[in-house]
Amino acid sequence: MKRPRPGVLTFFWQWLKNPLRTAALVPSSSELAYAMIAELPDDTQRVIELGGGTGAITRELLAAGIHASQLLVLELNEELHAHLHARFPGVHVVLGDARSLPELASGCGFLDEGLADAVVSGLGLLTMPPTLQRDILAAALACLRADGVFIQFTYGPAAPLADSVVKQLGLKVHRGDFVLRNVPPATVYVYSRHAAAAAH
Ligand SMILES: C[S@@+](CC[C@H](N)C(=O)[O-])C[C@H]1O[C@@H](n2cnc3c(N)ncnc32)[C@H](O)[C@@H]1O
Repeated sequence: MKRPRPGVLTFFWQWLKNPLRTAALVPSSSELAYAMIAELPDDTQRVIELGGGTGAITRELLAAGIHASQLLVLELNEELHAHLHARFPGVHVVLGDARSLPELASGCGFLDEGLADAVVSGLGLLTMPPTLQRDILAAALACLRADGVFIQFTYGPAAPLADSVVKQLGLKVHRGDFVLRNVPPATVYVYSRHAAAAAH
């Protein structure tokens, strides 16, 4: 019998318990992870991942050369956090809400060595109200270097962030790859500060 991909059953069980928060039936595919990694700035060393799940994207970030000590993975679900902690020794695996990212990233010492070059998000932003989207983005921007990027995947045809949030935070958006080999197929979006906003 063909064995399921690592984490598939763990993830599905968490989805049964809280479908809205888990936001996906199965972990992301390697192809989706590669499409996100392709959007990292060339000189990327330090990455924050929001909503690590069972580690489908974490694994590919490490395989792409991000050093474990330069990676922070945040997860809100206690069981998934414990799974990530056991699976990725040396990575800063933190339990908590993305809205509290600056405090959590400082608390574990990640920000002592500087801001992140990129935030990679697996959160279900599209289904969140704009106020929550704004709070999460503001928290992520506080941990990102001025020209850093916020990389998000989404399942719907629309961009994951509300236009009002993009405007309010002075962001620009670029659409990355559409990935058919994912359940469901997904598109990558990249948000970054406008030059004027980055200068402040
Ligand atoms: C769609 S899953 C993505 C999991 C994994 N990154 C992947 O791509 O397979 C979203 C994950 O975000 C977590 N999550 C949801 N809301 C969160 C929040 N406010 N802060 C941190 N993690 C959150 C969920 O528990 C879930 O593991």
